[in-house]
Amino acid sequence: MGRVLRTGLVGFGWINAKVWLPRLRAHPHFEVVGVHDPLLTASAGSTGSAGSAGAAAAAGLPPDTIAARLPDLLARDLDLAVVGTPNHLHERTAGAALDAGVATLIEKPLCLSTAELDRLNARSWATGAPFQISRPSPRRLDVARLQYLVRQMCAGPVQVRAEWLRAAGVPRPGSWFTRRDEAGGGALLDLGWHLAEVAQGLLPGSQRTGLTAELREPAPDAARGAARWRGDSPAAGGQDPDTGVFDVETDGRLRAHYRDGSVLSLRAAWASEVTVDTTTIEVRGTTADGERCRLELVTTFGFSPNRVTRPVLRVWRGSRSTEWSVETVPGKEYDDQLDATLAMVRRSAPWRVELRGTAEVLGLLEDAYRIAGRPLLPGTPARTTGGTRC
Ligand SMILES: NC(=O)c1ccc[n+]([C@@H]2O[C@H](COP(=O)([O-])OP(=O)(O)OC[C@H]3O[C@@H](n4cnc5c(N)ncnc54)[C@H](O)[C@@H]3O)[C@@H](O)[C@H]2O)c1
Repeated sequence: MGRVLRTGLVGFGWINAKVWLPRLRAHPHFEVVGVHDPLLTASAGSTGSAGSAGAAAAAGLPPDTIAARLPDLLARDLDLAVVGTPNHLHERTAGAALDAGVATLIEKPLCLSTAELDRLNARSWATGAPFQISRPSPRRLDVARLQYLVRQMCAGPVQVRAEWLRAAGVPRPGSWFTRRDEAGGGALLDLGWHLAEVAQGLLPGSQRTGLTAELREPAPDAARGAARWRGDSPAAGGQDPDTGVFDVETDGRLRAHYRDGSVLSLRAAWASEVTVDTTTIEVRGTTADGERCRLELVTTFGFSPNRVTRPVLRVWRGSRSTEWSVETVPGKEYDDQLDATLAMVRRSAPWRVELRGTAEVLGLLEDAYRIAGRPLLPGTPARTTGGTRC
């Protein structure tokens, strides 16, 4: 069966505590041997939040699991670090793990610029430690089925429309999520990253030739659209949802054109006109026989309980149509991610190939924000293409 991987959690917020910890514990090949999050060791008075130490106890983490400093965690003979820190800290925290020679699974967005990715790459080459982004959405069974059908049916360029629209799902208004200096961007980065990864598997892979993007300001009452299903306490992290900074978009769009004629239209919104949180992936193209074809997946990505009740995959070819029900267990794609991570740590998966795809997703979003006039990292110079050696 192979050695059980000694795993450390870097950050103990929602994703690591609610998504990764239970899955790592349930997986026979992983063992959580340590956690580092400044909130776990800060005194309640200094942070204004007493919630996290309580969260660690509630998660059944023995006190000796908690490492006061990141180097203390990395010194625990780790095989894997799982990075779930705010976006602007991914390079710093993941980079420290790579410097220590520890394989690293990094939450999305992998980082906020191609320059950051290049530096992570250099640190990975220096110690030989592999890294990958968590990319659960392309691992979904309904997405895999859509991708298979698109490859079977569509010849030549395609038009892809990828949308993830929440009715009211702003992650913790007033926290780092809604601060541009810490999150980089809003909904287009947060949800759009998943969509861009999925779209990447549907497009024929031609060179991008054009891009437009639009970021919509949050509505004045955006804080009330909080994603309550995350179960965050209103004051988690000490921010006030009504007075905290909110300078990222709640609704963002991009449109990319490719040399072969393919087009990607992507929209991601934390709060929008829909009443049910809905993810739609539509692909239009032409079959090898010259017939028009259209494939459409309508479901809900992620963990929101406000879900599409009957997820469906529809296919139209010429005048014929077919429809399949595509029920999925929410979160199964995260279990599959862990299997992929196991393969990365064991060097039995081409993780650098996957990383090249991640570099393209990062480049698309990085360019979109720059074109919209709000670069993910303020002051970032224009990107030169093809700079990342993955
Ligand atoms: N793939 C997904 O479906 C998904 C879902 C949610 C979040 N995420 C990503 O996961 C990351 C974390 O999101 P979250 O929802 O858990 O946020 P969160 O705010 O709930 O948790 C972040 C945690 O990081 C801790 N932290 C801050 N600085 C740190 C440091 N220097 N070292 C260690 N820990 C530090 C904070 O104290 C906090 O507890 C983000 O990048 C987010 O985009 C991904």
